[in-house]
Amino acid sequence: MKYSLHAREGDLAQLVGLTHKHFIFTLKAGERFQSHRGIIPHDELIGAAWGSQVFSHTGAPFFLLQPSMSDILNDLPRTTQILYPKDIGYILMQMGIAEGQTVLEAGTGSGAMTIAMSAAVGASGRIVSYEKNADTQNLAKKNLERVGLAPRVDFKLRDIQEGFDETDADAFFLDVQTPFEYIKQVRATLKPGGFFGTLMPTYNQVEKTLYALKKHHFAFVEVCELMLRYYKTNPARLRPTDRMIAHSGYLVFARKIEPSDDPRGEKLAKEIIGIEEEREE
Ligand SMILES: C[S@@+](CC[C@H](N)C(=O)[O-])C[C@H]1O[C@@H](n2cnc3c(N)ncnc32)[C@H](O)[C@@H]1O
Repeated sequence: MKYSLHAREGDLAQLVGLTHKHFIFTLKAGERFQSHRGIIPHDELIGAAWGSQVFSHTGAPFFLLQPSMSDILNDLPRTTQILYPKDIGYILMQMGIAEGQTVLEAGTGSGAMTIAMSAAVGASGRIVSYEKNADTQNLAKKNLERVGLAPRVDFKLRDIQEGFDETDADAFFLDVQTPFEYIKQVRATLKPGGFFGTLMPTYNQVEKTLYALKKHHFAFVEVCELMLRYYKTNPARLRPTDRMIAHSGYLVFARKIEPSDDPRGEKLAKEIIGIEEEREE
């Protein structure tokens, strides 16, 4: 998303009305924004300053804003659980996802992670996203098209039990119920040193995933969870909001390494992977 002073044709725009009701759409000359709060021709929005107020034909007021990635993801039409911006932001950092990379993921779900990753790898990068459910994949495709990022993504309809087509990927993010069942296949797609990440809601899944990572020689493993607490913004009564999302999932990160047969490397490999503790999953 390019940032500018004024709204331009082709930009994603966000209108925020009373009670924070908001609408995200692409500006197209000749088209009309329409809601129960009235109609605004896009031609009136194109050229308006971002942050300014605009009014529908019934006089309903809105602020015109450029949506952030977080706005886009929170607004995403979904039929699956999606990853939250708080987790996605950290995942992108931890997995070193950057311009020009090839990054794989499964499952695509509603495409929240796909949108964030395809923005991060830029026009020269590529995301390959696997999903087994055709309806879910179609929704994700629409979601990516809506924000103009679909050309950066290869959508593949497949149960990942059958494995992956790619090799030498820079990173792999796995968001399926049983990630521990696919660690071997993931290893085969990653370049040496490549990044692996996954998110799971329960300890039970994390435990199995940790054994699978050891078994398949992933190292530099990290497990964490992120908690985000919002505050009411009245400066005279600054305090936390009444409700919070207490749990989204546990994040597990690791890197594919290639232990050497040279006995001089054994001590470090044991220290990093803990091979001697390996057990069956
Ligand atoms: C929680 S959703 C992923 C959400 C996605 N990361 C997002 O941010 O929108 C999990 C998805 O994985 C897909 N899935 C589960 N097992 C799979 C498998 N073995 N092969 C391919 N896709 C699978 C499901 O159909 C579902 O759409």
